[in-house]
Amino acid sequence: MNDNRHPITFIGLGPMGQAMVRTYLRNGNPITVWNRTASRADALVAEGAIRAATVRDALAATELVLLSLTDYQAMYDILGDAGEALSGRVVVNLSSDTPQRTREAADWLAARGAVLITGGVMAPAELVGKDGAYVFYSGPQEAMETHRPTLELIGRADYLGEDHALAQLFYQAQLDIFLTSLSAYMHATALVKSAGVSAQKFLPYAVDNFDTMSSFIVDAAREIDEGDYPGELANARMMGATADHIVGASGDAGIDLALPAAVKEHYDRAIAAGRGTQGWPSLFETIRKPA
Ligand SMILES: NC(=O)c1ccc[n+]([C@@H]2O[C@H](COP(=O)([O-])OP(=O)(O)OC[C@H]3O[C@@H](n4cnc5c(N)ncnc54)[C@H](OP(=O)(O)O)[C@@H]3O)[C@@H](O)[C@H]2O)c1
Repeated sequence: MNDNRHPITFIGLGPMGQAMVRTYLRNGNPITVWNRTASRADALVAEGAIRAATVRDALAATELVLLSLTDYQAMYDILGDAGEALSGRVVVNLSSDTPQRTREAADWLAARGAVLITGGVMAPAELVGKDGAYVFYSGPQEAMETHRPTLELIGRADYLGEDHALAQLFYQAQLDIFLTSLSAYMHATALVKSAGVSAQKFLPYAVDNFDTMSSFIVDAAREIDEGDYPGELANARMMGATADHIVGASGDAGIDLALPAAVKEHYDRAIAAGRGTQGWPSLFETIRKPA
């Protein structure tokens, strides 16, 4: 199928599901929708979506079924009683959860005659279908290639391989960077605010820091893959002393210590393991295999 106006059943109409359904409606895809809270479909039905009265009706409408739910438990809650209505369906689950739960879901759906493609959406709802939006996918390649033209409409489709867990693994890894960085920003802002400085005044410096951060990880990725950490420029001992100063500054300011204490602990353990004169990327070894 190379037409991207494939009919779709869409289940899960939170902010993300609504944005996706609207993208497909604009493209002219026939869309059948179902949501636990039925009223969330009202506006979409007014815009051209077809409301399914039951989950079984929704599954009967099309071969391709997209799910956008809080987690994989919601999928079981919704599809648990669907029985044979799942047979022959390609279920693309765009919900967040752990990689292991996606593998279990693939088995669960296979036992009911359905194929699972897992997805991890790397865009906020307002950017769905726009430049820069992309989605990690994994699962059976044949099903993925069949439905790629349709899936590309919500964002670039980055297919990672047959293992269902891969899309979630990449998604969670990206969110790991995202959430931790946001907390680091909030913590740093609390630090300067403790001296009466506004968040706005600190902002350009934080932006500069975020903008240059990517240059640090290019060499780090190579060193991690090579398992070799030359430390001439910035070794773990020097960085660890700085981590200690951040904990001290945070304590003096009376703000939360959890995040800087966790970072300091990584350095402490690396130094205790004899990595003090190695480059800071050697922390990877400490994180990968906590003693
Ligand atoms: N929003 C974003 O910016 C964003 C960005 C990237 C990825 N994501 C991911 O996209 C997925 C959807 O996110 P969202 O923002 O649309 O909101 P959400 O609140 O996580 O998802 C809401 C949807 O899940 C349904 N749901 C939850 N638990 C259920 C259950 N036990 N039984 C039946 N339905 C259940 C809700 O039904 P009701 O309407 O009945 O409550 C609603 O349709 C999540 O996995 C999220 O991590 C979101």
